[in-house]
Amino acid sequence: MKKLVVIGDPINHSLSPLIHNAALKALELDKDFYYEKQRMNHEELADFIQSMRDGEIVGANVTLPHKETVMKYLDGVTQEAKLIGAVNTLYSERGKIIGDNTDGIGFLTSLEENEINVTHKKITILGAGGAARAAAITLAHYNTRKLVILNRSVKKAKILSRDIEEKIGKKVRVKSLKKIEEETKDAEILINCTSVGMKNKQENKTLVVSKMLNSHTTVIDIIYNPLKTKLLREAEIAGCKTINGTGMLIHQAAAAFKMWTGKNPPLKTMKNTLLTHLEGAQ
Ligand code: ATR
Repeated sequence: MKKLVVIGDPINHSLSPLIHNAALKALELDKDFYYEKQRMNHEELADFIQSMRDGEIVGANVTLPHKETVMKYLDGVTQEAKLIGAVNTLYSERGKIIGDNTDGIGFLTSLEENEINVTHKKITILGAGGAARAAAITLAHYNTRKLVILNRSVKKAKILSRDIEEKIGKKVRVKSLKKIEEETKDAEILINCTSVGMKNKQENKTLVVSKMLNSHTTVIDIIYNPLKTKLLREAEIAGCKTINGTGMLIHQAAAAFKMWTGKNPPLKTMKNTLLTHLEGAQ
């Protein structure tokens, strides 16, 4: 049996085992692979990577708080992971353990699936954490009209904008959340990459309310639990098109699945499994 693992701390909330085991079953790969969660502290990372080198574990997902710290134990990281500055997927290549980041491709595929064209658009991103970095760096490769990042910590947003300018050559504006209304009204796409609105954390909170929005704006919340955040409810009131984070979650998982198994992921099964679980949890 080939073992796949998601590591993090805490790890109980992770939906990756649910999604990946459903996908493995649908393709009858559950005879060969099994995916499980493993709570892990920092001191255990080096041994874990060694167990991957030994072939005991063939692939892994990495979640908080190890997405950045695990990088120093790896044998290599992809260009994408280097740009984002964090890994979420590990795979073995001829005994070498490589870190990749599939959040950017997950985000992009979710946009494509929803027929969102980013060319010549003004895009406002809220947040500058790991998820915001993946989204902003992905978007910076496209010919957007204006990319603005707002974050509670302006310093963190400036680091992200400097990275984008230096590594991709794209100019990004940075603003404090105090200026939020100026940057939401005329945005064609607004993306929440903060944890504001997340279940069990800051649920029923939002940084943007309906009067700050224009009906022409597409509002994306990368949060998937709850399925409809307070932000998306406000966006609906304003008449905006809305997209939640389930697409990004599924497509980042799908990219990892393909890497580990070499098979095209059963997207419908993955999505239905996730939605059934989340609808039951609402
Ligand atoms: P992730 O990797 O999932 O993006 P993270 O790195 O902890 O998680 O980032 C969380 C984001 O939510 C950050 O942009 C954070 O702002 P700071 O960088 O200023 O901490 C943002 N965030 C969390 N709680 C917030 C709040 N109450 N108001 C505004 N922004 C908040």
